[in-house]
Amino acid sequence: LTVSLLGAAIVAGSGTAQARDNDTVRIGVDIPYVPMEYRKPDGTLTGFDIDLGNALCKQAQLECKWVEQSWDGIIPGLMARKFDAIMSSMTINDERRQQLLFSNPYIVPPSAWFVPASSDIQTPDENSLKGKDIGVQRGTVQDNYVTDKYGSIANIKRYASADDVAVDMDAGRLDLAFLDYPTGQAAMLDDKKRDYRVAGDKLTEPKKYFGEGFGIAFRKRDKELAEKFNQALATLKDNGTYQKIYDQYFSK
Ligand code: ARG
Repeated sequence: LTVSLLGAAIVAGSGTAQARDNDTVRIGVDIPYVPMEYRKPDGTLTGFDIDLGNALCKQAQLECKWVEQSWDGIIPGLMARKFDAIMSSMTINDERRQQLLFSNPYIVPPSAWFVPASSDIQTPDENSLKGKDIGVQRGTVQDNYVTDKYGSIANIKRYASADDVAVDMDAGRLDLAFLDYPTGQAAMLDDKKRDYRVAGDKLTEPKKYFGEGFGIAFRKRDKELAEKFNQALATLKDNGTYQKIYDQYFSK
């Protein structure tokens, strides 16, 4: 009797906030991260990840709900079952693979350095970065890379959101921002408050940090769910839907 009561309690508990029913998938996302995930003036979610995510769910016949979550809590949120997947421009790399199961990459953007157009920095390296203020979003692969590589010579400033990095760039409190290229481009090249340019090469290496592109992350045991997304992604690539969404955000 004790055992079956305990069993019932667990089922009831997991049926409320904890478990995913078969057709509904809650997806954690950190916004704003233009052009990947952000809100339109009317409040609705938009962006490449949002449109692609919704199309993938439709294709896989899953009902998706986006759950807003700050970046520093996004992996803990998945583990705590606040949501069932992360689709938030998350870079696939080996370190994260120890904890997470990733879909196939759905886009492979580089990282890039952004500087004010008037900056004296041409190529960011051990010499030119000495004593400089570098802005990154906390807990990103960009944070990990600059911290490991330049943490002892430069002043790394870590921000809760990529928008906060752009705000401090505009305010002149940073010498450089190091971001995923599409987001830096949208925040600093397209949406001009000051003149910015890219400094040095865009980076896709080392793979230890920059990995294999952006993937949808799942809890390790959710292999079936990940497979549904992989199949849907392959279909949307075949039937032109992926390209349509891509062109909406990236072809100008
Ligand atoms: N691609 C970077 C990473 O995975 C940054 C992603 C941040 N995403 C976001 N929606 N804020 O670490």
